[in-house]
Amino acid sequence: MLQLHDVIKTYSGKSEVTALDGINLSIAAGEMVAIMGPSGSGKSTLLNLLGGLDVPTSGRVLVAGKDLAGESEKERSLFRRTSVSYIFQAYHLMPTLKVSQNVALPLHLAGVPANEINRRVAEVLREVGLEAREKHLPDELSGGERQRVAIARALVTGAALLLADEPTGNLDTARGEEILNLLRAIHRERGTTIVMVTHDHHAASACERLIKLRDGRVEGDSLRGGGDR
Ligand SMILES: Nc1ncnc2c1ncn2[C@@H]1O[C@H](COP(=O)(O)OP(=O)(O)O)[C@@H](O)[C@H]1O
Ligand SMILES: [Mg+2]
Repeated sequence: MLQLHDVIKTYSGKSEVTALDGINLSIAAGEMVAIMGPSGSGKSTLLNLLGGLDVPTSGRVLVAGKDLAGESEKERSLFRRTSVSYIFQAYHLMPTLKVSQNVALPLHLAGVPANEINRRVAEVLREVGLEAREKHLPDELSGGERQRVAIARALVTGAALLLADEPTGNLDTARGEEILNLLRAIHRERGTTIVMVTHDHHAASACERLIKLRDGRVEGDSLRGGGDR
């Protein structure tokens, strides 16, 4: 589903930074992959390229056989709205919108009819166990609940690819564990492809495959239970 060929990403500023330095990777549909590496090793940059939020300086990023870099900004934006969803360490919910409105947002942006929106929002809120919180505002919720709202918002479009950047980074161990269990359940039941950046070895061990980055390169790529790829 995802292929990176010789991907280089440099940021130009006062001094040029090479965030990704020749990445070759292939991630199949339905995999659940952890990405680990020291701070600054290029993890978020890699996720942004997979999600079509940014394009490589050189090399190719293929999603379902399509080269995102070759697409127009309009096509990439359609891809971002329909085919990929993101969750972040800091949740990124809209503070003035209720839980159900936050979850409904991607469907509103996609022009889905109101009755269909209500049905799908109710369904995903049940799936993440937050049906009783639909009328609350984000700051009336715990961190773990906020992350579950963010996951519901990510699921509601039915995107086949879920990208998660340190999704348990702001949570204590127990709350983090709940989020990991939820992501595993989504992976298992929906077959969603999940790529998760994490600092936490325990979180990484929830995944079937671990990719290690260092200095913008793939330092290791192994399947859980041993074996390199
Ligand atoms: N928008 C940006 N402009 C300039 N440099 C950036 C930008 N984003 C990231 N970088 C640099 O690229 C490198 C990789 O960053 P990042 O992908 O965020 O790493 P990680 O997520 O592994 O901490 C770092 O050296 C970082 O400072
Ligand atoms: Mg990062």
